[in-house]
Amino acid sequence: MASSMKNLQLIILALLIYSFSSNHYVIITTIFAYVPKENIALDCGSPDDQTTEDGRIWIRDHDKDSRYSLIEVEGQSKSNIFIASSQYDSVDRVPYMTARVSRFQFTYSFRVTPGPKFIRLHFYSTRYHDQDDFDPSKAFFTVKAGPFTLLSNFSAFLTAEFLDQRAFMREFCLNVEENIEKLDIVFLPSSSPLSENHVNSSYVFVNGIEIVSMPTTLYYTPPTGKLTPPLLGNLGRSFGDYSNRALQMVHRLNVGGSGISPMNDTGMYRQWTSDFKYFISEGFVSCNTSRKPKYSTIPNYTAPDDVYRTAITMGNNATKNTLRNVTWRLPVDSRFFYLVRLHFCEFDESLTKAGDRIFRIYIDNYTADNAFSVMDWSGGNMIPVYRDFVVSIVDEPYLFVDLHTREMDSTYADAILNGLEVFKISNYDRNLAGPNPSLLASPGSDQTLNPTTNKSKSNKTLPAIALGSGVAGFLVLLSMVCCVVLLRLRKTKRRPSSYKRKSSKSTRGSSRRLPEQLCQRFSFSEIKSATNNFEQALEIGRGGFGNVYRGHIDDEFPEVAIKRLSKGSSRQGEREFEAEIKMLSQLRHVHLVSLIGYCDEGSEMILVYDYMANGTLRDHLYGTNNDPLSWKQRLEICVGAARGLHYLHSEVKDTIIHRDVKTTNILLDDKWVAKVADFGLSREGRGDSGAVSTVVRGTFGYLDPEYAQSRQLTDKSDVYSFGVVLFEVLCARKPVDVKLEEEQRNLAQWARRCVREGKIQDIIDPFLMGKISPECFKNFVQVAEKCVRDHRNRRPTMRDVAEKLEFALELQEKADAAKQAISPDGVYVYPDLSFHLVDDHHDHGHGYDVLGLHGGTYFSTTVGSDSVESSLRSVDTESGKIRDVFSDASNSKSRV
Ligand SMILES: *[C@@H]1O[C@H](CO)[C@@H](O)[C@H](O)[C@H]1NC(C)=O
Repeated sequence: MASSMKNLQLIILALLIYSFSSNHYVIITTIFAYVPKENIALDCGSPDDQTTEDGRIWIRDHDKDSRYSLIEVEGQSKSNIFIASSQYDSVDRVPYMTARVSRFQFTYSFRVTPGPKFIRLHFYSTRYHDQDDFDPSKAFFTVKAGPFTLLSNFSAFLTAEFLDQRAFMREFCLNVEENIEKLDIVFLPSSSPLSENHVNSSYVFVNGIEIVSMPTTLYYTPPTGKLTPPLLGNLGRSFGDYSNRALQMVHRLNVGGSGISPMNDTGMYRQWTSDFKYFISEGFVSCNTSRKPKYSTIPNYTAPDDVYRTAITMGNNATKNTLRNVTWRLPVDSRFFYLVRLHFCEFDESLTKAGDRIFRIYIDNYTADNAFSVMDWSGGNMIPVYRDFVVSIVDEPYLFVDLHTREMDSTYADAILNGLEVFKISNYDRNLAGPNPSLLASPGSDQTLNPTTNKSKSNKTLPAIALGSGVAGFLVLLSMVCCVVLLRLRKTKRRPSSYKRKSSKSTRGSSRRLPEQLCQRFSFSEIKSATNNFEQALEIGRGGFGNVYRGHIDDEFPEVAIKRLSKGSSRQGEREFEAEIKMLSQLRHVHLVSLIGYCDEGSEMILVYDYMANGTLRDHLYGTNNDPLSWKQRLEICVGAARGLHYLHSEVKDTIIHRDVKTTNILLDDKWVAKVADFGLSREGRGDSGAVSTVVRGTFGYLDPEYAQSRQLTDKSDVYSFGVVLFEVLCARKPVDVKLEEEQRNLAQWARRCVREGKIQDIIDPFLMGKISPECFKNFVQVAEKCVRDHRNRRPTMRDVAEKLEFALELQEKADAAKQAISPDGVYVYPDLSFHLVDDHHDHGHGYDVLGLHGGTYFSTTVGSDSVESSLRSVDTESGKIRDVFSDASNSKSRV
């Protein structure tokens, strides 16, 4: 079997790697903890075997194969093999590029051994034929596996729309009985009114099918001596044996962490996703550890180590914790029983006995456990364990999981959860199918910008580019300004000293108040050794109020960026330090930087972030040896950054205005995902009216002229700065370049003028010539132009910007797909660009003599609520930073 050969190779490779790194040998047994007896991945419609980027082999769809056979009903038209008419980067080529499509029933019959199996069905709702006769919205069908109905009158089109994902997978589990030795999967189109030429307008299609065996005790039969799960609300009675039922995986979440791809599962190719979308509580702590889970109570294939290495806990404010629940809200179909599996691993080393963290678990308002202690069940620190429950969902379309503290007997008022799986259980009539999602009820607005949807993961092909520019990448590492990582805050090595024991008073004497929910607090000596006592060679940037160093803290944090506030920073700096910690520790978004920890010993104020492999966006635009970014990469980065800013503006409780949006504050991780960084200048906004501030802050060239003049800060100031970023990305030049003719120095003003005069196409990055589709260009320029309008009321919101950019990206993808179809060698050129402003407004940029058009120095008046002062400031035209930004004004009492 080719695929198990592949596994073997990987194991050997892993052995080789790990034998070099001392005693980490055990990890291998985790990665490949289980080798499935059957491991079939069928690429429906594909004439040849295909290997995915991550190395999995998908077998061809062929009449003659020993592992399965295709059965079609005699006397009917045969099914078709089609290639998808459009492919997107967000959609994996394998298995989604090809499909088996039919207006009649067909069956794949797999030869399998008895026992429990995963069945995964992959669908990509798109056009599969040039003619209109296979309209994706008309495909309604039923899928049966053995005696079970998995899907009924199912529309992949509606589901894809609802999920906001072009392609998706549905996973089921069932037990193949003894002596049957085959598993028939039947695809059956729903009947619908016949079309004009008397054919069923409905049809069925499938892109990929996986059949993978699983250990018998994983989801079905409890390990010997264990009981079947309790049915909640039924006086503690068990749900009984359900091994003769089928399951549908509805949610499989790595709580507090990021997604885990099928290749990083324990051998069963399960997909784990972040719980981010479903976590609805505010004020939480997401933690992680690098320690290795020790499997003794459950088998090591139960979940990948990473599931047990990340968690959500409640934080260290006992009083607050007792007043709230940590809650996940999971969409489900009503009228089914659900199997809910909660994964736990107590990885806080400071907790040593079962009574340290006892908490309550509620599932859908039922008490699942009134006094649960992870260590009581697992037997110790770092030992994973799980609990199963069954609950019936009658009419609510959600399943809630709530954790609540237990004050009376727990040392700490806290709770923890590491992973969560939810399975729908088939009904007595062996049905698992629910209704199609109604698009009216679609999450719509709050999904369009959701970071976990497929569109945002559209950088699949980018790592290859990253590899290609390895040397350049190294230079980037050296030149990056800031830091960061994906969605996780790091694990508490030990509790911050402000961690409260239940009922004991805070022992911290410091006057500086820090937020209660921090994950990690480092000592100054740790930071010193991490940076070789702030060695100059490790300096990677100079930020707004201090230097940034690269370093590593133990094995736990091999690469971090450490931002140290300059000594003797003004009080304002301290306040910003607090603001940044407070904000970062509460924000969690795939397009925002996250904080690992901080150090506030003595006069030191230090922030620790994860290291961002690809540096800043600017490093890839101009003045660099890096390869230029493709237009699509640029669009994807802009979409990501726009989503991050939109999240700051509207998806968090208090609007947060970034105040320093620029290309050096948009960082790129190793997968080229954009992350908005540096909230040092952020502060909470006050809605539309805007706060009047004494201090204008921001960076020269990006500064909103209306804000600079009125001192009224609104989220539209960020929109302006972002507009400058968009032009910077399009034109690959500095926002302020004093070497240019005066009229061209300020990019925003110059670009607007070019737009007005219909010659914006003349100033774009020469590298992009012929690579931008005219439609995409029009939309991009339109939104960029709107962002940099003088009057904030004429600028779009960040949400609009994100949506328009997504649309522009889509237009480019469509145009590329169309071009590729005509020129398969991939060489094609777009016609010359042009853009004409069709606009009725009169906001033509003459309103203000924008700061810095003349470089050098400028004069400005600061108006505060209780101070009026004039100041002459020097402008560093090279770095584009306004020096000494009204530092005196920071003493003003009115500073919020
Ligand atoms: C926590 O959730 C449970 C179950 O949903 C509910 O009964 C309880 O009132 C909640 N407690 C708080 C403090 O919100």
